[in-house]
Amino acid sequence: MTRREMLAIGVGLTGLAVSRSWRRSMVVAAATRTGAPGAGLSLRDAAFANGITFGSAVPKEQLLANPSFATIVGQQCGILTPEVELKWKALRPSPDRYDFAAGEWLLNFAHSHEMMFRGHTLVWEQALPNWFGSVVTAQNANKMMTDHIFTVARRYAGKMHSWDVVNEAVQIEDGRPDGLKNTPWLRMIGPGYIETAFHAAHEADPHATLVYNENWIEPDDAAADKKRKAVLALLTGLKRNNVPVHALGIQSHLFAETNACNASYQRFLQQVSDLGLSIMITELDIRDKNAPAGIATRDRLIAGQYYKYLSFMLLFPAVKTIITWGLSDRYTWITTHDPRPDGIAVRPLPYDAEMNQKPAWQAIQNALQEARRR
Ligand code: XIL
Repeated sequence: MTRREMLAIGVGLTGLAVSRSWRRSMVVAAATRTGAPGAGLSLRDAAFANGITFGSAVPKEQLLANPSFATIVGQQCGILTPEVELKWKALRPSPDRYDFAAGEWLLNFAHSHEMMFRGHTLVWEQALPNWFGSVVTAQNANKMMTDHIFTVARRYAGKMHSWDVVNEAVQIEDGRPDGLKNTPWLRMIGPGYIETAFHAAHEADPHATLVYNENWIEPDDAAADKKRKAVLALLTGLKRNNVPVHALGIQSHLFAETNACNASYQRFLQQVSDLGLSIMITELDIRDKNAPAGIATRDRLIAGQYYKYLSFMLLFPAVKTIITWGLSDRYTWITTHDPRPDGIAVRPLPYDAEMNQKPAWQAIQNALQEARRR
C-alpha cells in the first residue's frame, strides 16, 4: 500500500463511513430503544459472522455480584479475559503457594457460556505480590519467572485461546537504546527475559497463541512514534531468533480525541502483519475526561471513536480479536485510574451503569457488521 493509499483510507474513514454509520445507528437505536440487555444481534455473533472474536475483560467479583452484568457478559462475549485473577498478585499469595480458585471460576463461567478464555498476564512489572521484592533476587529471578510460567501455563494448557506472555516491556522514557522498560525483570535477568518467557510459555502450552501485549502505540505523536519503532524492533528481533511469539496485543486504551487512525500507526500495523504476526485489540476502552459533560454529546463522541478505530483496525486481515476492558460503565478501571476533573461518572464502555446499550454498543456492532465487506 502506498502512503497516498493509506491516507486515502484514513480520510474515507473520518468522513464518509462515520456518517453512514450514524445514519444506520439512528435506525437501529429506534428499534432497540428499550435498551434491554441483549437487544439486537449480540456483538459476539456480529463478530463471529465475519470471522472476528469479540469479548471483554471482567473480574469474577463483578459477575458474582451482579446477575444483569453476568447476563450481558454471557450474551455479548465470545472470549473472556480475567481482569485481575491471573496476575502474579492474585495467583501467588506466598512464594510457594498458587491459588487458582478465582481463575478456575472464571474459566468455568467462560466455558458454560461457550466463550474462549485468555490468559493475562505471565510477565509484567505491575500487580506483583507484596513478597516479590524480598524474595526474588538476581540469583533466582530467571527460575522464579520460568517456574511461574511452567506452573500457570501448564495448568491451563489446551484451554487457553492465547496468553499475554509479556506485558508492557517497552518504555522510551527509561532511556535505553533498545527502548526496554526498566523493570525488576530486566534489572535482574537482563533483556533476554523476554525471549526466555516466550520459550517457557511455548513449552508449557504449545497450542496457545503467545502474545506480546503493549500500551500507548496508537496515537499520532512523537512519543508513540518512538514506541512503535522500539516495539517493531523488539518483535523483529524475536522473529529473527525464532522465538515463539505469535501475536501483538495492542491495548487500545484510547481517549475520545485520540487520532489513532494515523498514517504512522497504519504503517506500523502493516509492518507487524508483514512479520507474520496476528494483531489483537486486547484492552479497548475510550476515555471521556476531556469531553463535554452532557451525556448525549459525550456518548456520541465515544461511539464515533469506537466506530472509527474499529473500522480502521479491521481493514487489516491480521486483526481478528477485539476485547474491551470491561463491558459496563458501572465497572471500569477508568473510574479510579483516570476520572473526569468535574467528578461526573465516566462512560468509556458499550453499556451504561444500568446495563443498557449505549451508542458505543451500536458503533461496535456497525463496525463488526461492515468488517471484511469493504
Ligand atoms: C488494571 C485493572 O483493570 C485494575 O482493576 C487493576 O487495579 C490495575 O490493572 N493495562 C493492563 C491491565 O495490562 O492489566 C490493567 O488492568 C490496565 C492497564
